Amino acid sequence: MAGDLARRLEKLREEIRRHNHRYYVLSRPTISDAEYDRLLRELERLESEHPELVTPDSPTQRVGAPVSALAKVEHAEPMLSLENAFNEAEVREWEESLRNFLKAESLDTDFAGEPKLDGVSVEVVYEDGFLVRASTRGDGWTGEDITHNVRAIRSVPLRLAGRRVPALLEARGEAIMRKDVFQRLNRELLEQGEEPFANPRNLTSGTLKQLDPAVAEVRPLDIFFYGAGRSAGIEPRTQRELLVLLGELGLRTNLELAAFGGLDAMLAAYAALEERRNDLPAEIDGMVIKVDDLRLRERLGTRARSPRWALAVKFRAQQATTRVNAIVVQVGRLGTLTPVALLDPVEVGGVTVQRATLHNAEQIRKLDVRAGDTVFIERAGDVIPKVVAVVKESRRGNERPFQPPERCPACGTRVEQEEDAVAIRCPNARCPARVSAQVEHFVSRAGLDVEGIGPKLIEQLVARGLVHGAADLFRLDAESLIGLERMGEKSAANLLAAIDRARQPALDRLLFALGIAGVGQHVAEVLAAHFPSIETLGGASAEELEAVKGIGPEAAAAVRAWFALEENQALLRDLSGLGLRPRALPAPAAGKGGAFAGQTVLFTGTLSSQTRAEAEARVKEQGGRILKSVSRNLDILVVGEDPGSKLKKARELGVRIMTEAEFLERIGD
Ligand code: IVH
Repeated sequence: MAGDLARRLEKLREEIRRHNHRYYVLSRPTISDAEYDRLLRELERLESEHPELVTPDSPTQRVGAPVSALAKVEHAEPMLSLENAFNEAEVREWEESLRNFLKAESLDTDFAGEPKLDGVSVEVVYEDGFLVRASTRGDGWTGEDITHNVRAIRSVPLRLAGRRVPALLEARGEAIMRKDVFQRLNRELLEQGEEPFANPRNLTSGTLKQLDPAVAEVRPLDIFFYGAGRSAGIEPRTQRELLVLLGELGLRTNLELAAFGGLDAMLAAYAALEERRNDLPAEIDGMVIKVDDLRLRERLGTRARSPRWALAVKFRAQQATTRVNAIVVQVGRLGTLTPVALLDPVEVGGVTVQRATLHNAEQIRKLDVRAGDTVFIERAGDVIPKVVAVVKESRRGNERPFQPPERCPACGTRVEQEEDAVAIRCPNARCPARVSAQVEHFVSRAGLDVEGIGPKLIEQLVARGLVHGAADLFRLDAESLIGLERMGEKSAANLLAAIDRARQPALDRLLFALGIAGVGQHVAEVLAAHFPSIETLGGASAEELEAVKGIGPEAAAAVRAWFALEENQALLRDLSGLGLRPRALPAPAAGKGGAFAGQTVLFTGTLSSQTRAEAEARVKEQGGRILKSVSRNLDILVVGEDPGSKLKKARELGVRIMTEAEFLERIGD
């Protein structure tokens, strides 16, 4: 029967692999997290009963033992770098140089334009479909072996998908950390009073060079593949075909769809990409233009360090210089005091910036930044810009060094410095600035998402003694609101209605909103998926918490500590008494649920991201139904380019209109 069991295990692995791909590569899961966990647990159980049947490509074998050092790896084909261009003229010059090199009037090829991801370039080698080695670029010829860490990256398959798996594939791509992940990790570091990382690239590089892959597991990375070194068994003729092939093999290829066409199309795509750069989930610093035809690439060949056939067109720097008018201290919801530079307004990457975080006194000392200084500021990974350096040459001698406050600027309480930490805190739980920050967090988008209540209003509510904590929001009435700045009867009624709607939050949102240290959006989701109510979560032991995939000992301890405090128990009782009823997360059955569950959808006009048939298939996968014409039964009309008469009719009937971008967002693209 051993053969039967081996087959059953392989089937289970195959299924998990498929769901991994749908979740991590396509962002289109078809089963719930709970169901996925069930499959994984079954596999783990069977494997632990039959350790002789464990295979190295099993989804349970991602995170292995630490290595003792990073071995050197020679690249069979060197990993080159790219020549840079900064403007249209240089791009046109490049194309001319290609024509000259080939002694041709025109180039008989399209170009491919891809986002230039700002991360760490890596090579991942697959032999007969199995991931055997991963390495950093190093000096281009010799890199370091980071197989143990790359295996821990969930979007990287341990085994290639599809029927036509090549005998050899040296896949090349860029390892990155998504901006939201970077921000979450840095927030957690700051909350723990530790030094934040400078940008996602440094954190990616630092993570990939760890000896213990457990680190890579809690600092989730991604790899986007854009090329190949040697290969055997595949014969793409163009970059376009190569990207499709890599995708079919289960590798994640593009953060953003690549553009194809002539040079003018590339320049247009470049401008469009720069427009959108801050909205993308990962940092990019330009666009790479590549000759699409791979045979032509061979004829063009390489220079010493870079191929002739590709060009990196960089974006304008998201850096600027400006003056620090003052350094003030901001009080966070956990009492952490963060120094902030107030700046002469300056434009950085299309956004006007007036404040920049300085993180903590240690950072200020390192940078030696003083009020009155001229500084370099940069937007990197974070929406919040930071001061990266002082222009010392511009000093005039009257700059004022920062004095860390001895008392909280909001409530006057003597500040505390935690041992082994650089941060200072206001220990007063009633500090109005802390309470305001807590309430802001409570009602924030990722929290209870109460519309129409911003920092200014909260500050007023706290200052007037109407709100001493989050629960007091549910005690507000029209009488107490009217008379506040810019608050008439109408806006008071709207606000109260919005607060009332927040009385039944999804459990994960409430967990986030409570502001438990270490419980960001992601951890909150994980917890809510496992514990049906706040009571069961509060009653869970450290062991039970740590048994949940994605919850480490630190988060478990933080959750336990939060629930152990009587004041937090009182808050929960208070909220409950005020009618707050969190909703457990539904565990949708496969096939049910989905982004368009129970809705009817119709498309009009041309879609740019996919064909109509593909888009319709996505709607169906996500639980929706396609209608043939506009009628009162239609829920959503998705509008592409040059929409027809359907749009007019839908408007008349008051049907919800959705742009292609909104559609992509809804399906998670
Ligand atoms: S192609 C021969 N495509 O940019 C080199 N590189 O500055 C072929 N990069 O080391 C590289 N996104 O790490 C290529 N879509 C993309 C890229 C990309 C980011 C990085 C890569 C390379 C660096 C060169």
